[in-house]
Amino acid sequence: MAILVTGGAGYIGSHTVVELQNEGYEVVVIDNLVNSSKEAIRRVETITGKPVKFYEGDISDAELLDTIFKEETIDSCIHFAGLKAVGESISKPLEYYSNNISGSLILFDAMRRNNVKNIIFSSSATVYGDPAFVPITEDCPLGEITNPYGQTKAMLEQILTDIYKSDNTWNVILLRYFNPIGAHSSGTIGENPNGIPNNLMPYITQVAVGKLEKLGVFGDDYNTPDGTCIRDYIHVVDLAQGHVKSVAKLKENPGLKIYNLGTGKGSSVLDVVHTFIEASGVDIPYVIKSRRTGDVPVNYCDATKAKEELNWIAKKNLFDMCADSWRWQKNNPNGMI
Ligand code: NAD
Ligand code: WQD
Repeated sequence: MAILVTGGAGYIGSHTVVELQNEGYEVVVIDNLVNSSKEAIRRVETITGKPVKFYEGDISDAELLDTIFKEETIDSCIHFAGLKAVGESISKPLEYYSNNISGSLILFDAMRRNNVKNIIFSSSATVYGDPAFVPITEDCPLGEITNPYGQTKAMLEQILTDIYKSDNTWNVILLRYFNPIGAHSSGTIGENPNGIPNNLMPYITQVAVGKLEKLGVFGDDYNTPDGTCIRDYIHVVDLAQGHVKSVAKLKENPGLKIYNLGTGKGSSVLDVVHTFIEASGVDIPYVIKSRRTGDVPVNYCDATKAKEELNWIAKKNLFDMCADSWRWQKNNPNGMI
C-alpha cells in the first residue's frame, strides 16, 4: 500500500517523503512543480536510496488522479499541494481560492470515487488568527483571518470536517503547523522561495549568502521581552516526522483529529537572528522597520496533544534549525538548479 503525497516536491513535502521512505513506506508523489522542481525528487532519491514514483500534474486534473488511483495501490493521502504566499494571496485571491479550494475539492472527490478515505491535511497556525491565548491548544477558538491564503486553510479544515460528518468511514487528520524552518542535514533539500523571500529564515539565509544586503526586522515595539514578535519555529524534519506518526495514527481509524505541530517554545525575531549568527559564524546586518500589517505579536503552541496521541515531539532546537538552514543555503545559493 502506498501513500499519495500531493505537493511532494515542495519544501515540507520533500522532507516528508524522505522520512516516509526511511520508515519503509511506499510513496507516490503528484506535483505540478509550480513552486518546486523535479530536482527535489532526484535529491530525495539520493538521500534515501529509493526511487520515488512521481507524477507531474495538477490536483485539479481528475483524469490524472483516477489514473494514479487505478495504477497505484493507494490507501491514504498527505495533502500538501497548494499556494502559500500570504501577500500574493491578497493580490491574487482568485488564483488562491481556485488552486487551493477547487483543486482540493477535485482531489477529495477523486479520493471518494476511488474509495481512498484517509487524509492528512497541511493546515496552519494561521487559523488561530491573533490567538485568544498562548500557548495555543487545539481548543483555542479560530481567529480572524486577514488574508485569502489563511482563509483557504480554514475553509479546507471545514470542508474536510463536513466530509467526515457526512461519512464517518473517512479518517481526517488536520495538522496545524507553526513556523517550519531548517532543512535536511545533508544540505541537499530545503526551502527555495521565488524572488525576494517574505519569510524570516529564507531572508536571513539570503543575507548570509550575500544575495540580500540586510534584514528588515518588522517592529521592535511589541509587548514582548525584546520588542520583536514571537513565533514557534519548528525544524522541518521534526515536522516531517509528525506526518509519519500521523500516518500510523490513520491505521487506528481515528475519525477526525486535529493536532498542533510545533515545539511549544516561542522565539523572537532577534533570538532567531542571534542564534543564526552563532550557528553560521556569519554576521546578519539588520535594521528595525515598522510593523508588518497582519503580524500577530505572539504565537506559540501547546504540543501536548500530539505528544500524547501521536507519540510525537519536536526534538531539534533553534540552533539546529539555523545550522541546517545555513548548510542548505550555503551549498545551494541559487536553490535547486
Ligand atoms: P511549497 O510551495 O514548497 O510546496 C507546495 C507544493 O505543492 C509545491 O511543490 C507546488 O509545486 C505544489 N503545488 C501547488 N499547487 C499545486 C497543484 N494545484 N497541483 C499539484 N501541485 C501543486 O510549500 P510548503 O512550504 O512545502 O507547504 C506545504 C503545505 O503546507 C502547503 O499546503 C502550505 O500551505 C502548508 N503550510 C506551510 C507552512 C510554511 O510555513 N511553509 C506553514 C503552514 C502550512
Ligand atoms: C516571522 C516573524 C515577521 C520577515 C507565515 C504565514 C503563516 C505560515 C508561516 C503558512 C514575524 C518577522 C519576517 C522579515 C521580519 N505559513 N519578519 N523580517 O508571518 O509568522 O507566518 O509563515 O501557513 O501562515 O503567515 O512567518 O517567517 O513571515 O515571519 O522581521 O523580512 O519574522 O514580522 O514576526 P509568519 P514569517
